[in-house]
Amino acid sequence: MRYLLYLFLVIGICCKNTETNSNTSIQTTLSEDQNYDQPYRPQFHFSPPSKWMNDPNGLVYHQGIYHLFYQYYPDDIVWGPMHWGHAVSKDLIKWEHKPIALYPDDLGYIFSGSAVVDLENTSGFGTKENPPLVAIYTYHSIEGEKSGRLDFQTQGIAYSLDNGDRWEKYEGNPVIGNTNIKDFRDPKVAWDQESAQWIMTLVAGDHAKFYSSKDLKSWELLSEFGKNEGAHGGVWECPDLFELQVVGSKEIKHVLLISINPGAPNGGSGTQYFLGDFDGKQFTTDHTEAKWIDWGRDNYAGVTYNNTPEDERIFIGWMSNWDYAQKTPTEVWRSAMTLPRTMSLHQEGNSYFLKSYPLDAISSISSEALVHDAIQLSAPFNISNDSLSTSDIKFQANLSEALEVTLGNDLGESAVFSIAPKQEELQFDRRKSGRISFEERFAGDLQTQPYKPKNELAEVRIIVDASSIEIFVEGGRYIFTNQFFPEKPYNQLLISGEENATLKNFSIHTLTSIWKHE
Ligand code: FRU
Repeated sequence: MRYLLYLFLVIGICCKNTETNSNTSIQTTLSEDQNYDQPYRPQFHFSPPSKWMNDPNGLVYHQGIYHLFYQYYPDDIVWGPMHWGHAVSKDLIKWEHKPIALYPDDLGYIFSGSAVVDLENTSGFGTKENPPLVAIYTYHSIEGEKSGRLDFQTQGIAYSLDNGDRWEKYEGNPVIGNTNIKDFRDPKVAWDQESAQWIMTLVAGDHAKFYSSKDLKSWELLSEFGKNEGAHGGVWECPDLFELQVVGSKEIKHVLLISINPGAPNGGSGTQYFLGDFDGKQFTTDHTEAKWIDWGRDNYAGVTYNNTPEDERIFIGWMSNWDYAQKTPTEVWRSAMTLPRTMSLHQEGNSYFLKSYPLDAISSISSEALVHDAIQLSAPFNISNDSLSTSDIKFQANLSEALEVTLGNDLGESAVFSIAPKQEELQFDRRKSGRISFEERFAGDLQTQPYKPKNELAEVRIIVDASSIEIFVEGGRYIFTNQFFPEKPYNQLLISGEENATLKNFSIHTLTSIWKHE
């Protein structure tokens, strides 16, 4: 039986899905010094050609192109003077690197922010026929910070008239000055249809501030939110505000994402969210406790795309954690983004929650590998194959039964995901996952997240890419995103469960690299 499964796996891996691969029209081209063959290098997640990257910035779709700007320091693999790096994609799967979009200037480093398509040319930077892309970001004056002042973060804007290739900074910068607020940053701007104006969500230490503008240049403070709501274990960062319709209903709610560092439930950096209403001026919510989009340790500073086709709400996060981000054992580059995920809003009884789940487009790099209608767990199920280190594993399991999924190698290094119904917890353990000593807080404790055991089948999906593992349960209701750094790639999968347990609709697809030399 085990031999048969192995045979299927090998056959499947050999039969690449060439038809869907050929649909992708942006080919990623790399120069010789930008190869993606290093140990730990993700093969289908975005990572910079070289050097340091943190938050995603300026996520915007325009004329067939998804832009991904990112916090970038091109001279070292640790954080430094921030630029906006730039990449583009037609499908959010394959990326093409572009030249650096924004460089630090006299006003400071270029910190996180957003980008909009100014369709009506409200800014006057372009024309209605050729609407400008406008980037709204934070200036961080390092001299100001060093001199002990508090007003060293201000907000600036820049525009592009050629869909992101060349950027011009506005001569009237900064567009929002600082009134002695130490942490004052990360503007997320979007057009508000109802009030017919731009709304900016900004963070200021322990709360969010909302501003409005008619032209992206002059801004008026509307209101504040959050001093008494949510988690406050650290500074609020990288906000996002958008609407979602509850799946299966006509009800619409506003979602406010707020990253926080430290203060995440499993330590360090994490992203909480609030559900409520924004009436054009004020955000209100009916819950004061924090809800979290991901309980893993490596999904931070995530925000969503502006201007997507069909208004799809697509999220990308930075797959690291400030607890150890600058020390992870990579050399040429440091850090990757999460897979792009679609966000949706759901109701169960009186409670509402977000799900985020990888885009279907990932099937364009997926090859049929191993499929099994049912797997009896009377004995542990295990397979061993090198392609497990870049794979998409899916099955259905009963969430009221204990289950343990171990990915590892023959050195005994492993990452373990468990369903623990007695504790009403999902758990993730990377304490023996490989190299952990680069920073004590990396291994940390057993990671846990509360869940409701229910006596029905639910999907478990595990996506592995060299040094990251993204686990989605119940279509993204419960998520763990984590990095790991083994001495040898993981090539073994072991699943054990209760005696009469059965996994249904089991599949493993190998995912192919998006980084190819021409
Ligand atoms: C979040 C963050 C932002 C800031 C940026 C600086 O990770 O701290 O608040 O704008 O990184 O690189």
